[in-house]
Amino acid sequence: MKGVLFMIKTDELQEALPQVSMPLPGPNAKKVLAKRAANVPAAVLCSYPVVISRGSGAMIEDVDGNRFLDWVAGVGVMNVGYSQPQVIEAVKQQAERFFHGMINITTHANYVDLAAQINKLAPVNAEDKKTMFVNSGAEAIENAVKIAKSVTGRADVIVFSGAFHGRTALTSTMTAKKTYSYGIEPAMGGIHRAEFPNLYRAPHGYSREESIQYYLDKLRYVFEQAVPAKQVAAIVIEPIQGEGGFIPAPFEYVAALRKICNENGIMLVADEVQSGFARSGKLFVSNYWKENGFAPDIIAMAKSIGAGLPLAAVTAGSQIMDNIQSGIVGSTFGGNALACAAGLQVLDIIKEQQLTERAKQIGQMAFDGFTDMQSRYAEIGDVRGIGSMIGVEFVKNRATKEPYPELVAKIIKHAVSHGLIIENAGVHDNVIRFLSPLVATKEQIKAGLAIYETAIKESLTELAK
Ligand SMILES: Cc1ncc(COP(=O)(O)O)c(C=O)c1O
Repeated sequence: MKGVLFMIKTDELQEALPQVSMPLPGPNAKKVLAKRAANVPAAVLCSYPVVISRGSGAMIEDVDGNRFLDWVAGVGVMNVGYSQPQVIEAVKQQAERFFHGMINITTHANYVDLAAQINKLAPVNAEDKKTMFVNSGAEAIENAVKIAKSVTGRADVIVFSGAFHGRTALTSTMTAKKTYSYGIEPAMGGIHRAEFPNLYRAPHGYSREESIQYYLDKLRYVFEQAVPAKQVAAIVIEPIQGEGGFIPAPFEYVAALRKICNENGIMLVADEVQSGFARSGKLFVSNYWKENGFAPDIIAMAKSIGAGLPLAAVTAGSQIMDNIQSGIVGSTFGGNALACAAGLQVLDIIKEQQLTERAKQIGQMAFDGFTDMQSRYAEIGDVRGIGSMIGVEFVKNRATKEPYPELVAKIIKHAVSHGLIIENAGVHDNVIRFLSPLVATKEQIKAGLAIYETAIKESLTELAK
């Protein structure tokens, strides 16, 4: 009986609209947040007054009964939505059999089946592919780099300004923002940074073509002054830069990057940790790349692969994967049986519910909503993205493009108080990301856009005081 009631409630939440009926945090949330403050380091940052009780689709309900539309979704983890019945059932069934089979000791079918599925789908630069699993995005990147180094026999790696690749020793060195690595030096060696091709911030007056050439020249400068191309094992790039500000890498730039990699024996690694699993309107942004003739050699994926269970993967051609020095990769929990059971359902759900198409539809709705706001608010400098990975960049002045992080901080606060969860991005914290679960209804997207605009108005009024 309890189970039936739960199901009815869950379905109702899935279609619900945001509703906050008290100042946040509410009384129950306050207690949990006080306990958090007493027991969890403040460096595990959180400035949101939301304590989740349950989730369904694109909605979450907090411990006081307030309802939020979640456009952060665990930072791109819940593409298939919260509490998908298929995922719940598959995980339950797996839990009744066994939780864990360490892949170096006991092979389990979920690991192998999911690897086989991903090998069919991942658009790397090869026909025969292999996949290995780890637990987090940082681990996926760390392993992608280790694989590239091991197979090429080279020690150096090129990453980009604004990049975010994680918080392990290697990946925090690869990550651009120094807030993520300050005070924990020494950093790892052999990491060189090129300038990310950010068209919005290219030199004033440059055409698209000139801007791309400008950024390619910057990369050539790295080869001249920092590391010769023949010494580089991998160039690691986010197809749509996430934490760095939701900036798509222009396809012309990636095509040129592919050519440079081919000419110099460098592996092109796509960090699809945030952009993968239907977010962009294709399973990966690399699908667009491959269709246009510039597929990556290695794809690192995580976040939405497991619908909330810790799972990440690295996929590459068999020629690469079969030449990794034995022993340098592996993980106790990587490819855990429960997480892989969820991963198999994620791929089915994306196909059955045509989530790539939905990503395009809700992405278009959001994009139109944001550009409409841009026509009314001079503070919106840029709206950009692919599919449902969209960034809105706020500036003090459209001509100077001076970042406006104070406004963004206020918009986020006001939006949450009205039931819309959004998060900032960008090296200057002046971008707001759109990362809605792809199962959000049209009514929810409409409601979210209305709250977004109210939050802009309230924040501008407050800043004008
Ligand atoms: C593009 C990208 N790479 C890597 C990571 C690191 O993933 P994780 O936090 O799972 O280690 C993230 C996390 O936000 C990311 O967005």
